[in-house]
Amino acid sequence: MDPITALAEFEQAALASIAAANNAAALEQARIEFLGKKQGRLKDLQSLLGKATPEERPVLGKRFNDVKTAVEAALEARQAIVAKPKVAATAIDLTLPGTLPELGRLHPLTQTVREFQQIMARFGFEVVDDRELEDERHNFDALNIPLEHPARDPLDNFYLAAACTASGKPVLMRSQTSTVQIRVMEQRQPPIRVISLGRVYRPDDIDATHHVMFHQMEGLMIGRDVTMASLKSVLRMFAAAYLGGDTEVRFRPSFFPFTEPSVEVDVRWKNGWLELGGAGMVDPNVLQSVGYDPEEYGGFAFGLGIARFCMLRHGIDDIRLFYQNDVRFLRQF
Ligand code: PHE
Repeated sequence: MDPITALAEFEQAALASIAAANNAAALEQARIEFLGKKQGRLKDLQSLLGKATPEERPVLGKRFNDVKTAVEAALEARQAIVAKPKVAATAIDLTLPGTLPELGRLHPLTQTVREFQQIMARFGFEVVDDRELEDERHNFDALNIPLEHPARDPLDNFYLAAACTASGKPVLMRSQTSTVQIRVMEQRQPPIRVISLGRVYRPDDIDATHHVMFHQMEGLMIGRDVTMASLKSVLRMFAAAYLGGDTEVRFRPSFFPFTEPSVEVDVRWKNGWLELGGAGMVDPNVLQSVGYDPEEYGGFAFGLGIARFCMLRHGIDDIRLFYQNDVRFLRQF
């Protein structure tokens, strides 16, 4: 075999063995086989150089050195790779889509509350908030609810056994957001145009349409010429904004101690009417209880159940679903 061919074969075999060596021991074997100082195959080739003619020698010598350098470089490069801690190359596929973190979302009632606030803001109503633990003045007295009124029955309210106001008066969890009407009027002078959305509590038997805690939106508008027509317009515009422009709204005569006249507000639903809440013109006694002159100022108030609207729009048939924290339900909103 001529030396040039022998060198080419050596190079090919050495590079293949080095590339195939998967660990340090196999690589060391390849090194000894091809580059070993004592019996390596390169050593054998070196003896061929001695037999070359003087003319062949420079070419052959250069080729020999090139091959040696190439094989040594390949060995070194492979050593660096083999020495690295072994990562399971197949364990990670960087082209796969990642695992998305599960994002939470707003509770459907919270979404409804926010949307109500936005709608009413368009009609110029400011959002106010107040306490859920109340005294009897704000939950009953100032709202013209007489002492003997059934709404005051301790069995129909959550009175706190362990708490009372600084002046020793009983404390209860508010049974209606109308308490906020009083709180606002005590602090401000007309004109007033506010809404307040929050929780109220009544010891009801829990079923598909009743819960011991539910949400109301209270509205209050007081001024010099606020009329029943203003009330009806605002509620009609509100129902249209939330439920759709073709929503039919009905007002039925009713009674509340704190409004006169009073109405019940219904919307047309399927083949019947669904009651959404109460409303009316603020009773002069209520205005007087906060120091307003009923001859000068008047206005309307309303209180609507929030869950009802949300159930109507989304076709939810059981109010208990809102409070069970079942993600299969919550995920749909
Ligand atoms: N507070 C009444 C209720 O909870 C609703 C209402 C509010 C009625 C304001 C008239 C005016 O049933």
